[in-house]
Amino acid sequence: MTVIFDGKAFAKKHGKALKTTIANLKRQGIQPAFCVINIGQDPASKVYVHVKARRATALGLKQQIIQLSADITTAAVVAKIRELNADEAVHGIMVQLPLPAGLDTNQILESINPEKDIDCLTATNIGRLWQGNHFIEPATAAGVMALLQDYQVPLAGKNCVILGRSKIVGKPLAALMLEANATVTVVHSHSRNLAAQARAADVLVCAVGKPNFVTPEMVKPGAVVVDVGINHWHGQLVGDVDYEAVYPKAGMITPVPGGIGPVTVEFLMAGVVKLTRRRYGC
Ligand code: GUN
Repeated sequence: MTVIFDGKAFAKKHGKALKTTIANLKRQGIQPAFCVINIGQDPASKVYVHVKARRATALGLKQQIIQLSADITTAAVVAKIRELNADEAVHGIMVQLPLPAGLDTNQILESINPEKDIDCLTATNIGRLWQGNHFIEPATAAGVMALLQDYQVPLAGKNCVILGRSKIVGKPLAALMLEANATVTVVHSHSRNLAAQARAADVLVCAVGKPNFVTPEMVKPGAVVVDVGINHWHGQLVGDVDYEAVYPKAGMITPVPGGIGPVTVEFLMAGVVKLTRRRYGC
């Protein structure tokens, strides 16, 4: 019988403790606060920003959304980030990705003070992550690891195959899985024999952003399948995995919605609290 990961329940459990921590900080006069910069009108980004705002409010976190127009220059975005770096009341900053064409993503991300880098996207924090000396963990990667741990999925010595090499998911998750002593393969658009590589996975993570990308032929019987994709498809929210077809073959599988999504949001909020506590040494 295939086990379905209940990301919603896990996020709820995690959120309970987080809410208490935030309330305690507020009692000490500390209001954890973060800022999300959204540039342009990408519909998916708008949904993500809205979901984060709703959860932040429910937990008692202060969130400011800075909406900028798609024709803004890189220099103007960097200037805005510098202002936020200097603002004592802001503990975390994130720039919603992807950015509109024409903006220099690396230059923009690199201008974030690493101490406020919720997403772990500055060179300093990425370096720390790969050194195993984590300053902050990116929410999705941390959420995947925590959910696997909660369901007691062993990783040491296992073949973990990650489909997708994004800055936000694929690359940091590779670092965390390697640190957990897995044998990690990152498969991407230039990889050969993609299906065969995926079929070798004990744990298959899909983060390519393409609906129904993973079919049963790509899954080893009994494999753990983690679907990080969130795609709007024919009016529905679906992942990267053809869930109905893959479900009977997998040993364990995350659904979409209700899998990694809620866990990611919860871990993002936990990241803000972590940065805030570090700032005040509490
Ligand atoms: N776009 C989609 N997910 C994310 C995320 O976790 N962080 C950022 N910065 N942008 C995203």
